[in-house]
Amino acid sequence: MLSEEPIILPEPENENPPELEAVEEVPILPVRDTVLFPHALLPISVGRPASVALIKALGKNGTIGIASQLEAGQDSPAPADLHQVGTLIFVHKVVAMKEGMLVFCEGIARIRTLEYTATEPFLKARIERLPEVEPEVTPALEALRQNVLSAFHQVVANAPNLSDELHATAGNISEIGHLADFISGALPGMSHVERQNILEELDVNARLEQVNVLLAREAELSELRSKIQSQVQGQLSQSQREFYLREQLKAIQKELGESDESQQDVEELREKLEAAGMPDEVKTEAMKELKRLSRISPMSPEYTVTRTYMEWMASLPWSKSSGEAVNVARAAEILDEDHYDLEKVKNRILDYLAVRQLKPTMKGPILCFVGPPGVGKTSLGRSIARALGRKFARISMGGMHDEAEIRGHRRTYIGSLPGQIVQSLRRTGVNDPVFMLDEVDKLGRDFRGDPASALLEVLDPEQNATFRDNYLDVPFDLSRVLFITTANVLDPIPDALRDRMEIIDLPGYTEQEKAIISFRYLIPRQKTENGLDETRPLEFGDDAVRHIIRRYTREAGVRNLEREIGNVCRKVARRYAEGKQAISAVTPEIVEELLGAPKFRADAELAERTSRPGVAVGLAWTPVGGDVLFIEAGKMPGGSKGLIMTGQLGSVMQESVQAALTWVRANTETYGIDPEVFKNSDIHVHVPAGAIPKDGPSAGITMAVALLSMLTGRRVTPNLAMTGEITLTGQVLPIGGVKEKVLAAKRNGVTEILLPHENEVNVKEDLQREQIGDIQIRYVKTMDDVVQYALEPAPVVA
Ligand SMILES: Nc1ncnc2c1ncn2[C@@H]1O[C@H](COP(=O)(O)OP(=O)(O)OP(=O)(O)O)[C@@H](O)[C@H]1O
Ligand SMILES: [Mg+2]
Repeated sequence: MLSEEPIILPEPENENPPELEAVEEVPILPVRDTVLFPHALLPISVGRPASVALIKALGKNGTIGIASQLEAGQDSPAPADLHQVGTLIFVHKVVAMKEGMLVFCEGIARIRTLEYTATEPFLKARIERLPEVEPEVTPALEALRQNVLSAFHQVVANAPNLSDELHATAGNISEIGHLADFISGALPGMSHVERQNILEELDVNARLEQVNVLLAREAELSELRSKIQSQVQGQLSQSQREFYLREQLKAIQKELGESDESQQDVEELREKLEAAGMPDEVKTEAMKELKRLSRISPMSPEYTVTRTYMEWMASLPWSKSSGEAVNVARAAEILDEDHYDLEKVKNRILDYLAVRQLKPTMKGPILCFVGPPGVGKTSLGRSIARALGRKFARISMGGMHDEAEIRGHRRTYIGSLPGQIVQSLRRTGVNDPVFMLDEVDKLGRDFRGDPASALLEVLDPEQNATFRDNYLDVPFDLSRVLFITTANVLDPIPDALRDRMEIIDLPGYTEQEKAIISFRYLIPRQKTENGLDETRPLEFGDDAVRHIIRRYTREAGVRNLEREIGNVCRKVARRYAEGKQAISAVTPEIVEELLGAPKFRADAELAERTSRPGVAVGLAWTPVGGDVLFIEAGKMPGGSKGLIMTGQLGSVMQESVQAALTWVRANTETYGIDPEVFKNSDIHVHVPAGAIPKDGPSAGITMAVALLSMLTGRRVTPNLAMTGEITLTGQVLPIGGVKEKVLAAKRNGVTEILLPHENEVNVKEDLQREQIGDIQIRYVKTMDDVVQYALEPAPVVA
């Protein structure tokens, strides 16, 4: 697009001035956003078919009128879309262009269109020339003229893209109207509307006034612009000056044998880096950065960024390790000192250590401790570190969403930092700590990247010798770190990660084990923590500890147990402090006195809730160990809704309710149920503790028993719990989590358990005799077996 800014020629060398007086009717060329003043020369690009036709018909040396459009957007303007006041022009030259043509015009006079005489093939109109009356020169007018000229001078002087000659030319124009036109055409800041207004102003005095106002605005603007411009330049030269001064200063200092502070800083960093024991490749990289640092001004933000980076590099334990030679026998002692039992786990750890002792460079699998809260996963990790004489660091993976939390942020802004792995390494100060990555099952994942894949790189022995943190951007050898991960459940751990782990289960403790742990570990520890030493003796009775376990806690681990024991110790200590009568032996009565009424009454609750038909007890497996689950069935008159299920049941669990109901309906005859009941009642299955979402197929037989109990009026055997998947034909299929479920049943006062026949192996392999205790376990193959044990023979008489 060609510029439509006017090319100004105040006294056109017009070799052929046309005879104008006679003109009555002329073709009209509509133009957008363009105003051409008399005396001015302007190239107009012409592209619209009608306009092209007009110019072709006319050729050069023609005289036409131009009128600018009211709306520049109009593509084929009608007479009503054009300003009435326009300009009569003379066409000097026509140049064909790729699209349309370029027409060089000279403005001749202002005109007003009186009446359009044609619209096809182009516009034609009868026009009237508008006379230009030169006013008498008064002192006021002369003053205005001077004023306009000097303002114009200022604008031209401040605008780098306006030629200074413009001002001189303006000074030579004697006619007032012409001067106003000339300036209006030349002023870059003037809008199309303002120019059209000037064109329409026939009183030349008023026209110059208008131009004066517009010039004043423009002068102010140009003043501002040049001020800003010079300020920017001022700043630039200020910093350039500083740079030169600093360079000079450096040169002088060098001459004098002194070096400035930042140089000293760099030297210190160099010493640290030299001492850091980096691998050669890393050191080369670090020294390169250091050299760069010495060239940056200490005032610049980049200096801080680079300096922080150098600090990180210098302070990492590139070759500092803490580990002594592994002594398996000593390690075994320490593990036993810290934790009771967990034989399988400890053996596995000792195996691992033994191999390391023989082959220190072994690339072993990553250990992963899986189990409910409070079973000792974290504390076992600590204990392993102690057994190895190594430093211990714990990083919680729970809720990590961002890959950068593990691997760091690129060193692009002041606040960026290395990831958790490198941060922890710096904290421990050695390159072979025991790293516990807690809660790998709670890793998040979102648009910021997948932390699991970063973790994979950290853990994979094939890759972690050259682990690259985004911030450091050089490899760090992680292969000497002993990684241990923990999780409450296995399922959410990404497969690729799980593949590289050796899973070690810590399922939870029986009452017996909890009691032993209490006496050996928890009670002594809590006594010391609460200031009960030999001078203030306190003995816990076995029955008191069991009372706490049974009535004040319900958990697979021992965390709450330890807390309650701590509560007892604290209250006893307080009595000492208050000078009240001291307690030296804890009995169940004292426990109730100090801790308040028991929180749980497991067996009583079981018996109470199953005392009506329609309630059966299931066993569930949850991330916090096993738990008992009550399933309630009810019916109500109606029949339109069919089956209602409540209690936040997942889809698999809902399907097993359906399956159970189908089996019950298929067997109405066997159990003496009136089939009509399904036509005129709605059946409702509810699993209380509704806020917790539940899912899985293993409550299938429990659902069927609850339904059958409700429909037959036969009560469920008290203190009996069951678990098993049901098929439509009444087969009982095996389920998972047997050990956790049996332990949970025992915790909750269950005395009899129904398990699928095929789960018998799990009981034999995973549970010890004492863990089962006196619970009666019955193995069932079909629903008929289940009903035989689970339902009382006769209905309750209402
Ligand atoms: N076998 C044990 N012998 C001695 N103390 C134990 C044993 N198991 C657990 N403890 C103690 O129980 C407390 C809780 O253990 P820890 O914090 O390791 O649980 P965790 O398995 O990491 O649980 P979470 O999954 O909630 O992190 C600790 O004080 C620990 O010493
Ligand atoms: Mg833990």
